[in-house]
Amino acid sequence: EIYCTGPLLDTVQKSYVFQDGKHFVDMCCACSPAEILAEFDLFMNCPKNDHSVKLLKMFVEVNKYNFIYYKYLLKIFPLPQKYFIEPGYDVECVIPRDWKEKPPFVDKISDKNVRKWAILLNKHWKDLARKCKADVLKDPDQYSLIYVPNVFIVPFEHGRELHYWDSYWIVRGLLNSDMQETARGMIGNFVEMVRQFGYVPGCGRIYSLGRTNPPLLTMMMKHYVDVTKDKDFAIASLPMLELEHKNFLKNHEVRVKNTIMYQYRANSTGPRPEAYMDDLKLTEHIKSTTMKQAMFTELSSASESGQEFSSRWFVTADGTNRGTILDTRPCDIVPVELNAIIFRSCKILAEFNRKAGNFRRADEHLERACSLVKAIRDILWNDEAGIWLDYNLVNNTSRNYFCSTNFAPLWARAYPLVDTPKVSTSLMNYIARNELAAMPGGVPHTLNKKANEKWDYPNCFPPMMNLIIEGLHNLGTPQSKDMSKTLAHNWLRSCYAAYT
Ligand SMILES: *[C@@H]1O[C@H](CO)[C@@H](O)[C@H](O)[C@H]1NC(C)=O
Repeated sequence: EIYCTGPLLDTVQKSYVFQDGKHFVDMCCACSPAEILAEFDLFMNCPKNDHSVKLLKMFVEVNKYNFIYYKYLLKIFPLPQKYFIEPGYDVECVIPRDWKEKPPFVDKISDKNVRKWAILLNKHWKDLARKCKADVLKDPDQYSLIYVPNVFIVPFEHGRELHYWDSYWIVRGLLNSDMQETARGMIGNFVEMVRQFGYVPGCGRIYSLGRTNPPLLTMMMKHYVDVTKDKDFAIASLPMLELEHKNFLKNHEVRVKNTIMYQYRANSTGPRPEAYMDDLKLTEHIKSTTMKQAMFTELSSASESGQEFSSRWFVTADGTNRGTILDTRPCDIVPVELNAIIFRSCKILAEFNRKAGNFRRADEHLERACSLVKAIRDILWNDEAGIWLDYNLVNNTSRNYFCSTNFAPLWARAYPLVDTPKVSTSLMNYIARNELAAMPGGVPHTLNKKANEKWDYPNCFPPMMNLIIEGLHNLGTPQSKDMSKTLAHNWLRSCYAAYT
Protein backbone atom coordinates (compact mmCIF):
# COMPACT_ATOMS: atom_id res chain seq x y z
CA GLU A 1 0.00 0.00 0.00
CA ILE A 2 2.90 2.37 0.46
CA TYR A 3 5.63 1.03 -1.79
CA CYS A 4 3.72 -0.69 -4.59
CA THR A 5 0.37 0.98 -5.12
CA GLY A 6 -2.20 3.28 -3.50
CA PRO A 7 -2.89 6.99 -3.00
CA LEU A 8 0.24 7.91 -1.03
CA LEU A 9 2.59 6.48 -3.66
CA ASP A 10 0.50 8.04 -6.41
CA THR A 11 0.45 11.47 -4.80
CA VAL A 12 4.15 11.54 -3.90
CA GLN A 13 5.34 10.35 -7.30
CA LYS A 14 2.97 12.61 -9.25
CA SER A 15 4.12 15.65 -7.26
CA TYR A 16 7.81 14.93 -7.92
CA VAL A 17 8.59 15.33 -4.24
CA PHE A 18 11.83 13.59 -5.23
CA GLN A 19 13.46 13.81 -8.64
CA ASP A 20 14.52 10.17 -8.56
CA GLY A 21 11.54 7.80 -8.76
CA LYS A 22 13.39 5.26 -6.66
CA HIS A 23 13.88 7.60 -3.69
CA PHE A 24 10.46 7.37 -2.09
CA VAL A 25 10.00 3.62 -2.58
CA ASP A 26 13.36 3.02 -0.90
CA MET A 27 12.47 5.09 2.18
CA CYS A 28 11.74 3.30 5.44
CA CYS A 29 8.60 3.75 7.52
CA ALA A 30 9.18 5.29 10.94
CA CYS A 31 5.91 3.82 12.25
CA SER A 32 3.42 1.23 11.08
CA PRO A 33 2.18 1.54 7.47
CA ALA A 34 -1.45 1.49 8.71
CA GLU A 35 -0.72 4.50 10.90
CA ILE A 36 0.96 6.35 8.05
CA LEU A 37 -1.90 5.64 5.66
CA ALA A 38 -4.49 6.77 8.19
CA GLU A 39 -2.53 9.98 8.86
CA PHE A 40 -2.13 10.53 5.16
CA ASP A 41 -5.85 10.24 4.69
CA LEU A 42 -6.45 12.87 7.39
CA PHE A 43 -3.70 15.04 5.92
CA MET A 44 -5.24 14.93 2.44
CA ASN A 45 -8.69 15.77 3.78
CA CYS A 46 -7.56 18.52 6.13
CA PRO A 47 -9.22 21.80 5.07
CA LYS A 48 -5.98 23.69 5.70
CA ASN A 49 -4.06 21.46 3.31
CA ASP A 50 -3.41 23.61 0.23
CA HIS A 51 -2.19 20.51 -1.65
CA SER A 52 1.11 22.16 -2.42
CA VAL A 53 4.19 20.09 -3.06
CA LYS A 54 5.84 21.95 -0.20
CA LEU A 55 3.32 20.65 2.30
CA LEU A 56 3.38 17.15 0.90
CA LYS A 57 7.15 17.23 1.11
CA MET A 58 6.85 17.98 4.81
CA PHE A 59 4.57 15.03 5.28
CA VAL A 60 7.04 12.70 3.65
CA GLU A 61 10.25 14.33 4.73
CA VAL A 62 9.30 16.21 7.88
CA ASN A 63 12.45 15.27 9.75
CA LYS A 64 14.54 17.24 7.30
CA TYR A 65 12.82 20.56 7.91
CA ASN A 66 13.84 23.08 10.51
CA PHE A 67 11.96 23.67 13.68
CA ILE A 68 10.13 26.82 12.60
CA TYR A 69 8.66 25.12 9.59
CA TYR A 70 7.82 22.22 11.75
CA LYS A 71 5.91 24.38 14.23
CA TYR A 72 4.09 26.09 11.42
CA LEU A 73 3.09 22.75 10.10
CA LEU A 74 1.98 21.53 13.50
CA LYS A 75 -0.48 24.41 13.70
CA ILE A 76 -2.05 23.23 10.50
CA PHE A 77 -2.11 19.63 11.34
CA PRO A 78 -0.81 17.63 14.26
CA LEU A 79 1.94 15.53 12.75
CA PRO A 80 4.03 13.13 14.80
CA GLN A 81 7.82 13.36 14.71
CA LYS A 82 8.15 11.75 11.31
CA TYR A 83 6.68 9.11 9.07
CA PHE A 84 9.66 8.20 6.94
CA ILE A 85 13.37 7.65 7.25
CA GLU A 86 15.82 8.31 4.44
CA PRO A 87 16.67 5.51 1.97
CA GLY A 88 19.58 3.37 3.06
CA TYR A 89 18.59 3.02 6.71
CA ASP A 90 17.57 -0.60 6.13
CA VAL A 91 20.96 -1.93 5.01
CA GLU A 92 24.41 -1.72 6.50
CA CYS A 93 27.81 -1.85 4.90
CA VAL A 94 29.97 -4.78 5.95
CA ILE A 95 33.34 -6.24 5.10
CA PRO A 96 32.94 -9.82 3.87
CA ARG A 97 34.71 -12.21 6.23
CA ASP A 98 36.39 -14.10 3.42
CA TRP A 99 37.77 -11.03 1.64
CA LYS A 100 41.50 -11.18 1.07
CA GLU A 101 43.97 -8.54 -0.02
CA LYS A 102 45.56 -10.68 -2.69
CA PRO A 103 43.45 -13.57 -4.03
CA PRO A 104 45.36 -16.31 -5.91
CA PHE A 105 44.22 -15.20 -9.39
CA VAL A 106 46.36 -12.09 -9.05
CA ASP A 107 49.54 -14.14 -9.30
CA LYS A 108 48.45 -15.45 -12.68
CA ILE A 109 48.60 -11.95 -14.16
CA SER A 110 52.01 -11.35 -15.73
CA ASP A 111 51.72 -7.63 -16.49
CA LYS A 112 52.77 -5.62 -13.45
CA ASN A 113 50.33 -2.73 -14.08
CA VAL A 114 47.39 -4.99 -14.71
CA ARG A 115 48.24 -6.86 -11.53
CA LYS A 116 48.11 -3.61 -9.57
CA TRP A 117 44.78 -2.83 -11.16
CA ALA A 118 43.41 -6.26 -10.23
CA ILE A 119 44.41 -5.76 -6.60
CA LEU A 120 42.66 -2.40 -6.58
CA LEU A 121 39.52 -3.81 -8.18
CA ASN A 122 39.50 -6.61 -5.64
CA LYS A 123 39.35 -3.96 -2.89
CA HIS A 124 35.96 -2.82 -4.19
CA TRP A 125 34.27 -5.94 -2.81
CA LYS A 126 34.54 -4.14 0.53
CA ASP A 127 32.62 -1.11 -0.77
CA LEU A 128 29.87 -3.20 -2.28
CA ALA A 129 29.01 -5.66 0.49
CA ARG A 130 25.74 -5.13 2.38
CA LYS A 131 23.65 -6.82 5.00
CA CYS A 132 19.98 -6.32 5.87
CA LYS A 133 19.50 -4.73 9.29
CA ALA A 134 17.79 -6.83 11.95
CA ASP A 135 15.00 -4.18 12.11
CA VAL A 136 13.86 -5.35 8.68
CA LEU A 137 13.32 -8.86 9.99
CA LYS A 138 11.51 -7.49 13.04
CA ASP A 139 9.07 -5.19 11.18
CA PRO A 140 9.13 -6.32 7.57
CA ASP A 141 6.08 -4.26 6.62
CA GLN A 142 7.92 -1.02 7.40
CA TYR A 143 10.45 -1.58 4.63
CA SER A 144 10.42 -2.14 0.90
CA LEU A 145 13.60 -4.15 1.40
CA ILE A 146 13.10 -7.92 1.32
CA TYR A 147 14.98 -9.44 4.22
CA VAL A 148 17.69 -11.92 3.29
CA PRO A 149 19.91 -13.56 5.89
CA ASN A 150 23.36 -13.39 4.28
CA VAL A 151 25.78 -10.71 3.14
CA PHE A 152 25.23 -9.69 -0.48
CA ILE A 153 27.12 -7.65 -3.02
CA VAL A 154 25.33 -4.78 -4.74
CA PRO A 155 26.14 -4.16 -8.40
CA PHE A 156 26.91 -0.46 -8.12
CA GLU A 157 28.20 2.14 -5.74
CA HIS A 158 25.54 3.32 -3.25
CA GLY A 159 23.48 0.22 -4.13
CA ARG A 160 20.87 -0.53 -1.49
CA GLU A 161 19.57 -3.95 -2.50
CA LEU A 162 20.61 -7.07 -4.35
CA HIS A 163 19.83 -7.46 -8.04
CA TYR A 164 19.03 -10.86 -9.44
CA TRP A 165 20.74 -11.45 -12.75
CA ASP A 166 23.68 -9.12 -12.02
CA SER A 167 24.41 -11.49 -9.16
CA TYR A 168 25.29 -14.30 -11.56
CA TRP A 169 28.40 -12.36 -12.61
CA ILE A 170 28.99 -11.19 -9.05
CA VAL A 171 29.01 -14.80 -7.83
CA ARG A 172 31.48 -15.73 -10.55
CA GLY A 173 33.65 -12.78 -9.58
CA LEU A 174 33.52 -13.83 -5.93
CA LEU A 175 34.54 -17.35 -6.83
CA ASN A 176 37.45 -15.96 -8.86
CA SER A 177 38.42 -13.84 -5.87
CA ASP A 178 38.44 -16.91 -3.63
CA MET A 179 35.39 -15.68 -1.65
CA GLN A 180 33.43 -18.90 -1.57
CA GLU A 181 31.59 -18.12 1.64
CA THR A 182 30.15 -14.87 0.28
CA ALA A 183 29.28 -16.59 -3.00
CA ARG A 184 27.46 -19.34 -1.12
CA GLY A 185 25.68 -16.74 1.01
CA MET A 186 24.43 -14.90 -2.07
CA ILE A 187 23.09 -18.10 -3.58
CA GLY A 188 21.56 -18.95 -0.20
CA ASN A 189 19.74 -15.60 -0.21
CA PHE A 190 18.14 -16.42 -3.55
CA VAL A 191 17.19 -19.89 -2.34
CA GLU A 192 15.45 -18.23 0.62
CA MET A 193 13.60 -15.86 -1.73
CA VAL A 194 12.33 -18.84 -3.72
CA ARG A 195 11.20 -20.44 -0.48
CA GLN A 196 9.28 -17.27 0.36
CA PHE A 197 7.86 -16.28 -3.03
CA GLY A 198 8.29 -19.25 -5.34
CA TYR A 199 10.65 -17.21 -7.52
CA VAL A 200 13.40 -14.62 -7.26
CA PRO A 201 12.15 -11.05 -7.71
CA GLY A 202 14.09 -8.76 -10.05
CA CYS A 203 15.68 -7.02 -7.08
CA GLY A 204 15.58 -7.24 -3.31
CA ARG A 205 12.64 -4.84 -2.90
CA ILE A 206 8.95 -5.64 -2.80
CA TYR A 207 8.11 -3.29 -5.66
CA SER A 208 9.91 -5.69 -8.02
CA LEU A 209 7.78 -8.66 -6.96
CA GLY A 210 5.78 -8.55 -10.20
CA ARG A 211 8.78 -9.56 -12.24
CA THR A 212 11.85 -11.73 -12.06
CA ASN A 213 15.00 -11.56 -14.22
CA PRO A 214 16.75 -13.96 -16.56
CA PRO A 215 16.64 -16.95 -14.19
CA LEU A 216 20.31 -17.59 -13.51
CA LEU A 217 20.09 -19.12 -10.02
CA THR A 218 20.68 -22.68 -11.20
CA MET A 219 23.66 -21.60 -13.31
CA MET A 220 25.08 -19.71 -10.30
CA MET A 221 24.81 -22.88 -8.25
CA LYS A 222 26.58 -24.90 -10.93
CA HIS A 223 29.55 -22.51 -11.00
CA TYR A 224 29.69 -22.62 -7.22
CA VAL A 225 29.66 -26.42 -7.15
CA ASP A 226 32.28 -26.65 -9.90
CA VAL A 227 34.67 -24.47 -7.92
CA THR A 228 33.97 -25.72 -4.39
CA LYS A 229 32.89 -29.35 -5.06
CA ASP A 230 30.20 -28.64 -2.45
CA LYS A 231 27.51 -30.70 -4.17
CA ASP A 232 25.63 -31.17 -0.89
CA PHE A 233 24.61 -27.50 -1.01
CA ALA A 234 23.17 -28.01 -4.49
CA ILE A 235 21.31 -31.14 -3.45
CA ALA A 236 19.95 -29.52 -0.29
CA SER A 237 18.77 -26.54 -2.37
CA LEU A 238 17.42 -28.67 -5.20
CA PRO A 239 13.72 -28.44 -4.20
CA MET A 240 13.95 -24.63 -4.39
CA LEU A 241 15.89 -24.70 -7.69
CA GLU A 242 13.17 -26.99 -9.03
CA LEU A 243 10.43 -24.72 -7.75
CA GLU A 244 11.93 -21.61 -9.33
CA HIS A 245 12.42 -23.43 -12.62
CA LYS A 246 8.89 -24.85 -12.65
CA ASN A 247 7.26 -21.50 -11.86
CA PHE A 248 9.37 -19.66 -14.39
CA LEU A 249 8.47 -22.08 -17.17
CA LYS A 250 4.78 -21.96 -16.28
CA ASN A 251 4.64 -18.16 -16.35
CA HIS A 252 6.80 -17.50 -19.40
CA GLU A 253 6.02 -20.16 -21.94
CA VAL A 254 4.88 -19.33 -25.43
CA ARG A 255 4.00 -21.63 -28.30
CA VAL A 256 6.05 -21.17 -31.45
CA LYS A 257 5.34 -23.44 -34.41
CA ASN A 258 4.09 -26.18 -32.11
CA THR A 259 7.00 -26.12 -29.71
CA ILE A 260 7.17 -24.47 -26.33
CA MET A 261 9.67 -21.65 -25.92
CA TYR A 262 10.07 -18.88 -23.35
CA GLN A 263 9.82 -15.10 -23.26
CA TYR A 264 9.98 -12.27 -20.73
CA ARG A 265 6.53 -11.55 -19.37
CA ALA A 266 6.07 -9.65 -16.13
CA ASN A 267 3.11 -10.34 -13.90
CA SER A 268 2.39 -6.89 -12.51
CA THR A 269 -0.32 -4.29 -12.77
CA GLY A 270 0.05 -0.56 -13.10
CA PRO A 271 3.20 1.48 -13.50
CA ARG A 272 6.46 0.23 -12.01
CA PRO A 273 6.54 1.89 -8.56
CA GLU A 274 10.19 2.95 -8.88
CA ALA A 275 9.63 4.38 -12.38
CA TYR A 276 6.09 5.55 -11.72
CA MET A 277 6.07 8.82 -13.61
CA ASP A 278 8.17 7.46 -16.48
CA ASP A 279 5.57 4.77 -17.04
CA LEU A 280 2.59 7.09 -16.61
CA LYS A 281 4.03 9.56 -19.10
CA LEU A 282 4.84 6.85 -21.60
CA THR A 283 1.24 5.67 -21.48
CA GLU A 284 -0.63 8.98 -21.14
CA HIS A 285 -1.66 8.94 -24.80
CA ILE A 286 -3.37 5.55 -24.40
CA LYS A 287 -7.08 5.87 -23.68
CA SER A 288 -8.22 2.29 -23.16
CA THR A 289 -7.40 0.90 -19.72
CA THR A 290 -6.75 -2.56 -21.19
CA MET A 291 -4.24 -1.13 -23.68
CA LYS A 292 -2.68 0.99 -20.97
CA GLN A 293 -2.21 -2.08 -18.78
CA ALA A 294 -0.77 -3.97 -21.75
CA MET A 295 1.84 -1.23 -22.13
CA PHE A 296 2.65 -1.29 -18.40
CA THR A 297 3.22 -5.04 -18.76
CA GLU A 298 5.55 -4.48 -21.73
CA LEU A 299 7.59 -1.92 -19.77
CA SER A 300 7.77 -4.18 -16.75
CA SER A 301 8.70 -7.13 -18.96
CA ALA A 302 11.58 -5.09 -20.37
CA SER A 303 12.67 -4.61 -16.75
CA GLU A 304 12.37 -8.34 -16.25
CA SER A 305 14.83 -8.90 -19.11
CA GLY A 306 17.33 -6.73 -17.24
CA GLN A 307 17.78 -4.72 -20.46
CA GLU A 308 15.57 -1.71 -19.98
CA PHE A 309 15.55 0.03 -22.30
CA SER A 310 16.85 -0.94 -25.69
CA SER A 311 15.79 -0.88 -29.33
CA ARG A 312 16.16 -4.62 -29.06
CA TRP A 313 12.61 -4.58 -27.65
CA PHE A 314 11.17 -2.10 -30.17
CA VAL A 315 8.60 -3.69 -32.46
CA THR A 316 6.95 -1.21 -34.82
CA ALA A 317 3.69 -1.91 -36.65
CA ASP A 318 5.69 -3.16 -39.64
CA GLY A 319 7.88 -5.32 -37.38
CA THR A 320 11.11 -3.30 -37.43
CA ASN A 321 13.17 -1.93 -34.52
CA ARG A 322 13.11 1.61 -35.93
CA GLY A 323 10.76 2.88 -33.25
CA THR A 324 10.91 4.56 -29.90
CA ILE A 325 10.50 3.44 -26.33
CA LEU A 326 6.72 3.55 -26.98
CA ASP A 327 7.22 0.54 -29.25
CA THR A 328 8.71 -1.55 -26.43
CA ARG A 329 7.16 -5.01 -26.94
CA PRO A 330 9.15 -7.81 -25.29
CA CYS A 331 5.91 -9.82 -25.15
CA ASP A 332 5.98 -10.03 -28.96
CA ILE A 333 9.49 -11.48 -28.94
CA VAL A 334 11.12 -14.84 -28.27
CA PRO A 335 14.54 -13.82 -26.92
CA VAL A 336 17.68 -15.83 -27.68
CA GLU A 337 19.47 -15.67 -24.32
CA LEU A 338 16.43 -16.63 -22.25
CA ASN A 339 15.89 -19.86 -24.17
CA ALA A 340 19.61 -20.62 -23.96
CA ILE A 341 19.51 -20.07 -20.18
CA ILE A 342 16.50 -22.36 -19.77
CA PHE A 343 18.23 -25.03 -21.85
CA ARG A 344 21.36 -24.86 -19.70
CA SER A 345 19.30 -24.85 -16.49
CA CYS A 346 17.49 -28.03 -17.63
CA LYS A 347 20.85 -29.73 -18.20
CA ILE A 348 22.15 -28.65 -14.79
CA LEU A 349 18.95 -29.68 -13.01
CA ALA A 350 19.20 -33.08 -14.71
CA GLU A 351 22.75 -33.40 -13.38
CA PHE A 352 21.81 -32.36 -9.82
CA ASN A 353 18.82 -34.69 -9.84
CA ARG A 354 20.98 -37.64 -10.92
CA LYS A 355 23.35 -36.83 -8.05
CA ALA A 356 20.36 -36.79 -5.72
CA GLY A 357 19.12 -40.12 -7.10
CA ASN A 358 16.01 -38.67 -8.79
CA PHE A 359 16.54 -40.36 -12.12
CA ARG A 360 13.04 -39.91 -13.46
CA ARG A 361 13.07 -36.19 -12.77
CA ALA A 362 16.50 -35.98 -14.39
CA ASP A 363 15.11 -37.56 -17.55
CA GLU A 364 12.24 -35.09 -17.66
CA HIS A 365 14.69 -32.21 -17.60
CA LEU A 366 16.76 -33.81 -20.34
CA GLU A 367 13.67 -34.22 -22.49
CA ARG A 368 12.86 -30.53 -22.18
CA ALA A 369 16.50 -29.62 -22.88
CA CYS A 370 16.37 -31.75 -25.99
CA SER A 371 13.22 -30.11 -27.31
CA LEU A 372 14.62 -26.65 -26.54
CA VAL A 373 17.94 -27.21 -28.28
CA LYS A 374 15.96 -28.27 -31.36
CA ALA A 375 13.77 -25.17 -31.11
CA ILE A 376 16.82 -22.93 -30.72
CA ARG A 377 18.28 -24.47 -33.88
CA ASP A 378 15.06 -24.57 -35.91
CA ILE A 379 13.49 -21.29 -34.89
CA LEU A 380 16.20 -18.98 -33.58
CA TRP A 381 19.14 -19.93 -35.81
CA ASN A 382 18.99 -17.89 -38.99
CA ASP A 383 21.03 -19.20 -41.91
CA GLU A 384 20.99 -15.94 -43.80
CA ALA A 385 22.35 -13.91 -40.88
CA GLY A 386 24.58 -16.78 -39.76
CA ILE A 387 23.68 -16.49 -36.09
CA TRP A 388 20.77 -16.94 -33.68
CA LEU A 389 18.21 -14.14 -33.76
CA ASP A 390 15.25 -13.09 -31.66
CA TYR A 391 11.95 -14.20 -33.13
CA ASN A 392 8.97 -11.94 -33.77
CA LEU A 393 5.76 -13.71 -32.75
CA VAL A 394 3.47 -11.28 -34.56
CA ASN A 395 4.79 -11.69 -38.10
CA ASN A 396 6.52 -15.02 -37.46
CA THR A 397 9.94 -13.96 -38.69
CA SER A 398 13.45 -13.54 -37.30
CA ARG A 399 14.46 -10.10 -36.13
CA ASN A 400 17.66 -9.55 -38.04
CA TYR A 401 19.25 -7.02 -35.72
CA PHE A 402 22.55 -7.18 -33.95
CA CYS A 403 22.37 -7.72 -30.21
CA SER A 404 25.13 -9.11 -28.00
CA THR A 405 22.65 -11.69 -26.69
CA ASN A 406 22.58 -13.28 -30.17
CA PHE A 407 25.74 -15.09 -29.01
CA ALA A 408 24.11 -16.58 -25.91
CA PRO A 409 23.74 -20.18 -27.21
CA LEU A 410 27.56 -20.39 -27.41
CA TRP A 411 27.91 -19.37 -23.78
CA ALA A 412 25.14 -21.74 -22.64
CA ARG A 413 26.29 -24.46 -25.11
CA ALA A 414 22.76 -24.57 -26.46
CA TYR A 415 23.51 -25.99 -29.93
CA PRO A 416 24.18 -29.50 -31.21
CA LEU A 417 27.93 -30.16 -31.09
CA VAL A 418 27.86 -31.58 -34.64
CA ASP A 419 26.98 -28.07 -35.84
CA THR A 420 30.28 -26.65 -34.50
CA PRO A 421 32.10 -26.17 -37.84
CA LYS A 422 29.08 -24.51 -39.47
CA VAL A 423 28.41 -22.31 -36.46
CA SER A 424 32.06 -21.26 -36.25
CA THR A 425 32.32 -20.26 -39.92
CA SER A 426 29.00 -18.40 -39.83
CA LEU A 427 29.83 -16.55 -36.64
CA MET A 428 33.26 -15.46 -37.85
CA ASN A 429 31.53 -13.98 -40.88
CA TYR A 430 28.94 -12.32 -38.69
CA ILE A 431 31.63 -10.78 -36.49
CA ALA A 432 33.58 -9.57 -39.53
CA ARG A 433 30.50 -8.15 -41.24
CA ASN A 434 29.57 -6.20 -38.12
CA GLU A 435 33.22 -5.19 -37.52
CA LEU A 436 32.99 -6.21 -33.88
CA ALA A 437 36.71 -6.85 -33.45
CA ALA A 438 37.47 -3.33 -34.65
CA MET A 439 35.48 -1.67 -31.88
CA PRO A 440 38.07 -0.52 -29.35
CA GLY A 441 35.62 -0.04 -26.49
CA GLY A 442 34.16 -3.53 -26.67
CA VAL A 443 31.08 -4.93 -28.38
CA PRO A 444 28.05 -2.66 -27.93
CA HIS A 445 24.79 -4.24 -26.82
CA THR A 446 23.12 -3.21 -30.09
CA LEU A 447 24.41 -1.47 -33.21
CA ASN A 448 21.36 0.75 -33.55
CA LYS A 449 22.77 4.28 -33.70
CA LYS A 450 19.39 6.02 -33.78
CA ALA A 451 17.71 4.67 -30.65
CA ASN A 452 19.85 6.20 -27.89
CA GLU A 453 18.37 4.09 -25.14
CA LYS A 454 20.57 3.03 -22.25
CA TRP A 455 21.36 -0.35 -23.81
CA ASP A 456 21.95 0.81 -27.36
CA TYR A 457 25.01 1.75 -29.38
CA PRO A 458 27.61 2.74 -28.32
CA ASN A 459 27.06 1.34 -24.83
CA CYS A 460 28.51 -2.02 -23.88
CA PHE A 461 26.78 -4.23 -21.36
CA PRO A 462 29.74 -5.63 -19.41
CA PRO A 463 28.14 -8.99 -18.47
CA MET A 464 27.41 -9.49 -22.17
CA MET A 465 31.12 -9.15 -22.90
CA ASN A 466 31.61 -12.19 -20.70
CA LEU A 467 28.84 -13.98 -22.59
CA ILE A 468 30.48 -13.31 -25.97
CA ILE A 469 34.08 -13.92 -24.93
CA GLU A 470 33.33 -17.09 -23.03
CA GLY A 471 30.91 -18.25 -25.71
CA LEU A 472 33.50 -17.99 -28.48
CA HIS A 473 36.02 -19.75 -26.27
CA ASN A 474 33.52 -22.55 -25.61
CA LEU A 475 32.92 -23.02 -29.33
CA GLY A 476 36.49 -24.27 -29.37
CA THR A 477 37.63 -23.82 -32.99
CA PRO A 478 41.02 -22.11 -33.54
CA GLN A 479 39.26 -19.14 -35.19
CA SER A 480 36.69 -18.73 -32.45
CA LYS A 481 39.31 -19.00 -29.71
CA ASP A 482 41.47 -16.39 -31.40
CA MET A 483 38.47 -14.10 -31.72
CA SER A 484 37.60 -14.67 -28.08
CA LYS A 485 41.09 -13.51 -27.14
CA THR A 486 40.96 -10.47 -29.41
CA LEU A 487 37.63 -9.32 -27.96
CA ALA A 488 38.85 -9.98 -24.41
CA HIS A 489 41.97 -7.87 -25.02
CA ASN A 490 39.90 -5.05 -26.54
CA TRP A 491 37.60 -5.06 -23.56
CA LEU A 492 40.34 -5.18 -20.94
CA ARG A 493 42.34 -2.45 -22.68
CA SER A 494 39.25 -0.26 -22.72
CA CYS A 495 38.51 -0.86 -19.03
CA TYR A 496 42.16 -0.34 -18.15
CA ALA A 497 42.16 2.98 -20.01
CA ALA A 498 39.09 4.03 -18.03
CA TYR A 499 40.80 3.00 -14.80
CA THR A 500 44.03 4.86 -15.52
C1 LIG B 1 1.87 -16.26 -36.99
O1 LIG B 1 1.65 -17.50 -36.38
C2 LIG B 1 0.50 -17.55 -35.57
C3 LIG B 1 0.47 -18.88 -34.86
O2 LIG B 1 0.99 -19.91 -35.66
C4 LIG B 1 -0.74 -17.28 -36.42
O3 LIG B 1 -1.90 -17.29 -35.62
C5 LIG B 1 -0.60 -15.93 -37.08
O4 LIG B 1 -1.67 -15.68 -37.95
C6 LIG B 1 0.71 -15.84 -37.85
N1 LIG B 1 0.90 -14.49 -38.32
C7 LIG B 1 1.23 -14.18 -39.56
C8 LIG B 1 1.34 -12.72 -39.89
O5 LIG B 1 1.45 -15.03 -40.43
